[in-house]
Amino acid sequence: MRTGSETLSNVVASQIATHAPYGGVVPELASREHLRNVVPVVRTALAEAGISLRDLDAIAVTEGPGLAGALLVGITYAKSLAFALNKPLIAVNHLEGHIHAVLLEQAAISEDALPLPALALVVSGGHTHLYLARRNGESWHYKNVGRTLDDAAGEAFDKVAKLLGLGYPGGPWIDALAPHGDPKAVPFSFAQIKPKAHGRNAHYDDLARKFLFSFSGIKTAVLRYVQTHDMAASIEARRSALAQIPQAKPSDALLLCDEETLGLIASFQRAVVDDLRRKTFQAAEAFDASSVLISGGVAANRELRVRFTAEAAERGLPVAFPSLSLSTDNAAMVAAAAWPKFLANEFAPAELSAEPSLALGR
Ligand code: KG4
Ligand code: ZN
Repeated sequence: MRTGSETLSNVVASQIATHAPYGGVVPELASREHLRNVVPVVRTALAEAGISLRDLDAIAVTEGPGLAGALLVGITYAKSLAFALNKPLIAVNHLEGHIHAVLLEQAAISEDALPLPALALVVSGGHTHLYLARRNGESWHYKNVGRTLDDAAGEAFDKVAKLLGLGYPGGPWIDALAPHGDPKAVPFSFAQIKPKAHGRNAHYDDLARKFLFSFSGIKTAVLRYVQTHDMAASIEARRSALAQIPQAKPSDALLLCDEETLGLIASFQRAVVDDLRRKTFQAAEAFDASSVLISGGVAANRELRVRFTAEAAERGLPVAFPSLSLSTDNAAMVAAAAWPKFLANEFAPAELSAEPSLALGR
């Protein structure tokens, strides 16, 4: 990345094929794949950018949150590169990276394309967070104003897809199948969550407590629906039919789904998207945000984009999503988040270590 906005190369080594047979990320395999890929990926990125290691001004690496083993591979490698090349090392929060995936592209449109403060929804396989993002000179500040109490939204997509015998990761499968079903077929609902003002939520003021998510209930509701509607045999038939198809795609699954299944899928997606939309815009209003941005793997969801765009237009609020390739995890977003820290000489200490549950903002 040059000057925080010009992406010279963005190489992604996908681990989807490694984890797919298990229907979820296997931590040991994730570390092993990182170890196998880190050197070739850096080499390819440099080659595509047409530069050498010596041309770098600094090296940025994800400090957390994430799987400890995977984070450690990146940190150890980045540290040794920085040490050997005598270049500064910059530690980046993965969640800040997702936010910068959007800011990076908005900055390319114009300096003030996205008026601030922005209400940011970071929604992926591991996270469902709301932040109020503001800028002070070159530095960015985040206030955490919402989060999930249990599963992340992407995790719900993945678990429901698995439950229905679809492929991994589940989000793109549900995204592709939902338009073929009736979103009103199954009336899922999300209760307003009002946790007690003590214990682990004590630091949340009344306002922030309005913006809590919970996605484990809907997963159980889908399971219960499947059980009460005797869908087990047809799910099993779909699972084994898809297993026979090399590199099965959602279009293969469409032929294996009846109307009831498609209605269930469409209703699930509608319920999750509506819950995300409602709370995000309520938070934008409550915190007087001037724009809304959505990032993370689930931001790739087409219904989510359509419904967020429509509500933003109704409210006269600018809304921004990253392009599809920057929605899911990538390195450009980490470099973009590192740039303001580079300008501010905010470098990582020599003892930098992995922070698996690193938080962003207060
Ligand atoms: O940001 P990401 O690549 O990795 C994490 O940090 O988790 O997000 C991956 C998540 C997975 O749960 C995946 O199912 C979900 O994003 N996802 C989607 C879509 N594409 C990816 N969810 C819904 N609709 C999509 N089109
Ligand atoms: Zn991510």
